[in-house]
Amino acid sequence: MIDLQDLTKVFPGTAAPAVDRLSLHIERGEIAVFVGPSGCGKTTTLKMINRLIEPTSGAIQIDGRSADSVPVHKLRRGIGYVIQQIGLFPHRTIRQNMATVPGLLKWDKARIAERVDELAELVALDPDMLDRYPAELSGGQRQRVGVARALAADPPVLLMDEPFGAVDPIVRAHLQDELLGLQKRLRKTIALVTHDIDEAIKLGDRVAILSEGGHLEQYGSPSDILRDPANAFVADFLGTDRGIKRLSLIPISALDIETGPVVDRSATHTEATAVARKYGTDWIAIRDQGNVDGWIRIADVPSDGPATVDAEPFQTRLTRESTLKEALDAIVSSHTSVAAVFDGPELVGMVTAEAVSREILR
Ligand SMILES: Nc1ncnc2c1ncn2[C@@H]1O[C@H](COP(=O)(O)OP(=O)(O)OP(=O)(O)O)[C@@H](O)[C@H]1O
Ligand SMILES: [Mg+2]
Repeated sequence: MIDLQDLTKVFPGTAAPAVDRLSLHIERGEIAVFVGPSGCGKTTTLKMINRLIEPTSGAIQIDGRSADSVPVHKLRRGIGYVIQQIGLFPHRTIRQNMATVPGLLKWDKARIAERVDELAELVALDPDMLDRYPAELSGGQRQRVGVARALAADPPVLLMDEPFGAVDPIVRAHLQDELLGLQKRLRKTIALVTHDIDEAIKLGDRVAILSEGGHLEQYGSPSDILRDPANAFVADFLGTDRGIKRLSLIPISALDIETGPVVDRSATHTEATAVARKYGTDWIAIRDQGNVDGWIRIADVPSDGPATVDAEPFQTRLTRESTLKEALDAIVSSHTSVAAVFDGPELVGMVTAEAVSREILR
């Protein structure tokens, strides 16, 4: 959908390029995240895509057409833009801010009003806020308005420059989840800028890692980049916990899940200890009428079997969709050193630290 070829920008009066021969494709319906240190040319790259900045050399194609073959106003109609620092118009209400592009496109009043209501719902903004001014909203609410304004004319392409830059980590995580939810429904082609590598990993179908001077160091899926950083710059930028970061991208369903030491409540002491020995554990999980309720220590199993002992519930009940990072957390914080995986009330099996480690080394 977006194709950059040898895109270069040298600002007048500067010697070194701000963006240097940048080439990459962004597939239709994907989120590409540009990440890198301050001043590495992220904003400049976005602004070349909607021609707020003219490239010094190189080419941009959008949906198969050269960006400079289309009149600028037509080009921008198809590209929503969330600018760095949000940039709402302070003397216009939220409603007027959201209606900016439809107004420019001369939609009639009724259609604009309807669209603004739709947008408010889309970004989960209370309709009461529509007649306030930007200064009367919280940072997170303003960010939502910025996203709504960019979506107003339903453009196929969205450029988002640090859309969640100025909010605390909890609101930020919430807005990120909302964006992913929105994207599932809207399937826009999105180029998003951040300097937060965790945000890039969470949001990006593909991530472009840039260094000073607008050099593309690596472009790939978060999982590929984390597994195989192209060079020392990328490895350093990913941080020392890149193995753990990768775990957050892999679902438990990728593993072969072991059954684990499960014993029927009616089992004898001998049967119970044999199962524990087979799995090398000092505990067993207890199955009662088909469902596994919890676990007990082998040392606590009476000589006539586990029938009468109260089982300890598993602290965390994960599902196949949970991530290996969640599994690892459950493993290190549980007495049993395993993560129990459930499908509704039914135990699917258990994940061990060895299984997680095997998957990470694969
Ligand atoms: N209009 C301009 N004239 C001259 N130099 C500029 C201009 N705009 C940006 N630059 C320079 O180009 C480089 C890239 O700037 P850009 O705004 O693209 O960085 P960025 O990656 O978005 O940084 P940040 O994370 O801080 O927003 C910087 O060195 C900046 O000083
Ligand atoms: Mg910037």
